[in-house]
Amino acid sequence: MTEREDDVVLRRRGDGPPVTLRTGDCMELLAELEPASVDVVVTSPPYNLGIRYGRYDDRAPREDYLAWIGAWAERIREILAEDGSLFLNVGGTPADPWVPFEVASQLRDVLELQNVIHWVKSIAIEPGDVGNAASLERTLAVGHYKPINSPRFLNDCHEFVFHFTRSGKVPVDRLALGVPYQDKSNVARWKAAKRDLRCRGNCWFVPYETIQSRAKERPHPATFPSRLPEMAVRLHGVERTRLMLDPFCGLGSSAVAAVRLGVPFLGIELDPAYVEVAVERVRGELGELFCEG
Ligand SMILES: C[S@@+](CC[C@H](N)C(=O)[O-])C[C@H]1O[C@@H](n2cnc3c(N)ncnc32)[C@H](O)[C@@H]1O
Repeated sequence: MTEREDDVVLRRRGDGPPVTLRTGDCMELLAELEPASVDVVVTSPPYNLGIRYGRYDDRAPREDYLAWIGAWAERIREILAEDGSLFLNVGGTPADPWVPFEVASQLRDVLELQNVIHWVKSIAIEPGDVGNAASLERTLAVGHYKPINSPRFLNDCHEFVFHFTRSGKVPVDRLALGVPYQDKSNVARWKAAKRDLRCRGNCWFVPYETIQSRAKERPHPATFPSRLPEMAVRLHGVERTRLMLDPFCGLGSSAVAAVRLGVPFLGIELDPAYVEVAVERVRGELGELFCEG
């Protein structure tokens, strides 16, 4: 990847994988990347729901917005490796629930939809539904969401992560996200279960980290927890990830995930104020041993 003059490049001292944060419009900057040079894209574009971002105006006519989605998806296709993955996180609102479906449809002729993952932000589990193994004595209600005061809508505790690939046939590392069997007799009974680990499936409970002050700790209206991109890259395969990209990088949650996984990363973000925070977060994650440039 060719470095640009105003890139901020951070790495663990020595020869740690570079984390590059680039300020600008991804429509222009994606065109500069080499074809087939990116292994995993994990990103969450604006949803056009009128969210108040610093620079970006989130209120385009729906048609223009969807055309823009299609246009940058075409660019992603060009730079995605043959066996690469695009994990596209999109949510809607109860009043405008079609957004994720319409966004995903824009990619229909561009890439293959290989998996649909449900990012569950909050869930309630009744003792009677889990059997004795979990020893639940009362309803477990965990995670965070924005409560909706409405006589007709449910609280929205979920978003989509659409997994697109070029062929729809890219092998993934299911057991990298594996969970132990509840019933251990299954390990012996099922030939495929060589060890006490099974695919967790496509419902991922990933709560937001608890914060004390939004203005100080998360000065952005629409972030995802770093564990979400971390899980996506682990599913694709950490070893196979020579470059991870987030073209809508915001506060750098995916950059933090890249540091944790030790994979090279490029983040693109329109708003310099968000990039500044992303740089600080990456520095914090790298700890004392970071070096710049
Ligand atoms: C949903 S947020 C992403 C938040 C990010 N996942 C995080 O956890 O911090 C979308 C981001 O895209 C940025 N953005 C909008 N248009 C852009 C463009 N053309 N190029 C690059 N970034 C853009 C916005 O400023 C916003 O920060």
